[in-house]
Amino acid sequence: MTSFTGKVAVVTGAGSGIGRALALELARRGARIAASDVDTEGLAGTAEQVRALGAEIHSATLNVTDRDAVLGYADDVRAHFGVVHQVYNNAGISGDGLCVLDNDFEVYDRVLGVNLFGVINGTKAFLPHLIASGDGHVVNISSLNGYLGQPTLSAYCASKFGVRGFTESLRTEMLAGRHPVRVTTVHPGGVKTNIASNAAIAEQNGIEPTAAQRRRSDIYNQKLLRMPAATAATVILDGVAAGSPRIRVGRDAKTVDLFVRLFPKLYPRVVARVERRVFGA
Ligand SMILES: NC(=O)c1ccc[n+]([C@@H]2O[C@H](COP(=O)([O-])OP(=O)(O)OC[C@H]3O[C@@H](n4cnc5c(N)ncnc54)[C@H](O)[C@@H]3O)[C@@H](O)[C@H]2O)c1
Repeated sequence: MTSFTGKVAVVTGAGSGIGRALALELARRGARIAASDVDTEGLAGTAEQVRALGAEIHSATLNVTDRDAVLGYADDVRAHFGVVHQVYNNAGISGDGLCVLDNDFEVYDRVLGVNLFGVINGTKAFLPHLIASGDGHVVNISSLNGYLGQPTLSAYCASKFGVRGFTESLRTEMLAGRHPVRVTTVHPGGVKTNIASNAAIAEQNGIEPTAAQRRRSDIYNQKLLRMPAATAATVILDGVAAGSPRIRVGRDAKTVDLFVRLFPKLYPRVVARVERRVFGA
């Protein structure tokens, strides 16, 4: 069992949703937290709640797509605590909502930049420190879209399949090299957070969301994102404590995983039928 007491745990995207819930649950379990987010205000809220639990927190505004900043941040965290044991590469965006025919290339750059390269940046920056700790753990957040392709989510799915491939490769390397670092991929199903608010995200980027994008994010928020973020964090940390290489969060994530593995050729037809029924595409 991995313990959390006294461990230094890094959480990216800690200003909201699953990242904030992870920081709080890590604090409850006795870890020292390094929390970061591009959203300074959200991060300040997390820091306040972590301190209220009596835990130690180092917080920093950080954009995970800024590779030099992530490398400098890893050194800062190591200098601050003297050691780093665990990194949770969690920061992510949904960001598309259009089909491949209509998506701009810029959407792929943006979504893959945060969701895939953000994870690669965080992993590479912290890996030497995790190895040096003698008891390291990399936890990378993918999605059920790390094994299920879906219409109008091609950038998101590409990024999350990518996180899975990157993380599973890293795991084989740590095992082959007998490095003291466990490696876990997390596949959440629907968790009640801000992730699907495509409209809001698009507006932040100066892009006017279409009516179809707004309708899609409403359906996600009302029907599909059900599990409280605190429950997701508990499932993730129980899996990390047990040393699980692959954590599926929620019954939806487990059902989809089984379905895709049992019917790899059939599943796209079923997904297309559900898409037409639910979203009227
Ligand atoms: N909520 C779900 O249903 C669900 C399902 C599967 C996977 N996930 C994954 O879980 C992770 C957390 O998402 P969430 O649901 O908590 O969403 P969220 O929007 O509530 O939180 C994401 C956080 O990441 C931060 N962020 C975005 N871009 C960033 C950047 N460039 N640098 C640093 N921080 C950045 C945001 O400011 C935000 O605080 C994401 O990787 C997401 O893809 C979520």
